[in-house]
Amino acid sequence: MGMTNTPTADPVSPGGRAARPAGPASGPVDPSRWLRTYHPRGSAAARLVCFPHAGGAANAFVALSAALPEDVELLAVQYPGRQDRRGEPCAQDLSELAAGVAGALTASPDDRPLFLLGHSMGALVAFETARLLEGHGGPARLFVSAARPPAQDWQEPDLALVGDGELIAGLRRLGGIPEPLLADPEIAAEILRLLRADHRALLRHRCARGTAVAAPVTVLLASADPKNSPAQMADWGGHTTRGHEVVSLSGGHFALLERPAESAVPLTERIRGDLARAEASGAPAPEPLADLVRELMMEGLAGRAPRLTTDLTALEAAAGRVMAPEAFAYVSGTAGSGATGRAGRAAFEALRLVPRMLRGTRRADTSVTLFGQRLPVPVLLAPLAAQQVAHPEGESATVRAAAATGVPMVLSTFASRTLEEVAEAAGGHPRWFQLYLPSDRAVGASLVRRAEASGYGAIVVTVDATHLGFRPAELDSGYSPFLRGTGIANFTSDPVFRAGLPADADATQAVLRWAQISTDPTLTWEDLAWLRGLTRLPLLVKGILHPDDARLALEHGADGVVVSTHGGRQLDGSVSALESLPAVRAAVGSDVPVLMDSGIRTGSDVLKAVALGADAVLYGRPYVYGLGLDGGRGVEHVLRCLLTDLALALALTGCASLADVGPHVLANGDLR
Ligand code: FNR
Ligand code: LAC
Repeated sequence: MGMTNTPTADPVSPGGRAARPAGPASGPVDPSRWLRTYHPRGSAAARLVCFPHAGGAANAFVALSAALPEDVELLAVQYPGRQDRRGEPCAQDLSELAAGVAGALTASPDDRPLFLLGHSMGALVAFETARLLEGHGGPARLFVSAARPPAQDWQEPDLALVGDGELIAGLRRLGGIPEPLLADPEIAAEILRLLRADHRALLRHRCARGTAVAAPVTVLLASADPKNSPAQMADWGGHTTRGHEVVSLSGGHFALLERPAESAVPLTERIRGDLARAEASGAPAPEPLADLVRELMMEGLAGRAPRLTTDLTALEAAAGRVMAPEAFAYVSGTAGSGATGRAGRAAFEALRLVPRMLRGTRRADTSVTLFGQRLPVPVLLAPLAAQQVAHPEGESATVRAAAATGVPMVLSTFASRTLEEVAEAAGGHPRWFQLYLPSDRAVGASLVRRAEASGYGAIVVTVDATHLGFRPAELDSGYSPFLRGTGIANFTSDPVFRAGLPADADATQAVLRWAQISTDPTLTWEDLAWLRGLTRLPLLVKGILHPDDARLALEHGADGVVVSTHGGRQLDGSVSALESLPAVRAAVGSDVPVLMDSGIRTGSDVLKAVALGADAVLYGRPYVYGLGLDGGRGVEHVLRCLLTDLALALALTGCASLADVGPHVLANGDLR
């Protein structure tokens, strides 16, 4: 129990102390029913929407509203069933509340950045509201106060089984409600009615592990909150793809509301910081599509040719002319005779799309939801190691370009910049971490912890390269970036790795130690189960080609798989990824995320992969060629070309969205 009322929440008096009473209950999206503004600040740069605790009401936030500065306008949520909404039934579940608030917010367009703050049960409603708003740009940040993470057991008793006297005594112990209110039998009865109703909705609430929002999360935890501990807060990290932090307040469970001057400080700091960052990055929503065609045509009229070709299949040859020969050999190289590399391309080329006409598809919706997170496109950057071989800025330039085009990046364990540096360059942009599980498990655990702490939204564990393939181009030039010290930054920066080296170790010793522990040929599926136990982030297994391996991955705790031949760099002569995709999809069923890579070059290729069952694809070598040719600008160019091509391919096959894509867009429906 304990999600209850506060000194400012008076559930009984009709209208409460709302400065602006609700208008007539005229319709489900009448914002005035759901949102109260106690201190209207029309010129404020940001809006902070506040969700009360169980048993609470909008006016719980009056004092906080007053304590916030002029540049933040607070909108307090009024749930049905209380005060001026007493005539309406209380919500049965929290998603009803979230839908009401999201509806109210989207019904009254206001382009000031939006921040959400939920207290106790209100944190779960705020989280669900953030999810619903993702299709509308989403909130800039989610603040959660005195609340455990959504997938955690809140260990709340069933209040229907707790007698009135006991419940009141519990509320007294928890504090937050002035004694005169609890002592008044009529007011106390109303408090208990609301508390029990809200609490029923709370107990009914379910949220899957790994359900994540794209907003960063700030957890506010009071030092003497008897209901929540710092350890319980860690799992909030698994519910955001943008990282979380815990801010300590002094006081008890109701510190947020009881000490408004104190709690306004971290709120204001975060809000102003986010606004400043958004302004600095000039970050309006990325608009990579259609505009590219117009832009290039305008350039053409002005007599200027594009810096790089828009033919994504021609980038390799272009990069081969400018990159250092050994770097190009490393990136372009394949295993053995190159048969699998060629088969990867051939599989895409052998498939034919069937265009459809006159469906009025003006602009196709390319967005997709993975692990509860909405992505603007079904494309992520594949983890490619050691990108400094292509450009000195390496992965930092890549992730900035990814952010500019809305494409999440999967960062390699063997990156040439540390995962913390890349997270910083990413700003709030979503990124995942690819893990090669080192034979020194403590180093592996440390990498996972660091990825969690730096806001990586999923772990992609690669299982097809526990032995590196036989790669003639690398072997003939005697070149491996790692042995020259490029691509081991995540190790040399790792405290556990460093602890395994002598204090005065030089670069060569670090490389040698890396070579000893960086991969583990003895890995088995049991090790995947161990990794599953280590993190609550969504876990994908990359490098799957056999449907039985896909099943084993799920049995050992994976949340998704990546069908891949590693770009033909591992087993020469292996089946292509595209050929394997339908069987893997069939093996895991329709609900498990399946990604694929190896051989994807054009927008039509992405469409073909989706048609055969992929939810999204990883885009590989071409972006590193872009990096080699023109740094971050080259990566951005490549991605804009790919996404433009994809949107056009969707429209030309008559698909209004990715959900419309299936085997029917293919000439044969499969690879026969
Ligand atoms: C890779 N790939 C890869 N995969 C991974 O899980 N971790 C890694 O560190 C790397 N490193 C890497 C380096 C280079 C130079 C290449 C080309 C590839 C494989 C990569 O993620 C992806 O599976 C392939 O690149 C897909 O093939 P295409 O589309 O690039 O041909
Ligand atoms: C490669 C490894 C590092 O393909 O994944 O080079």
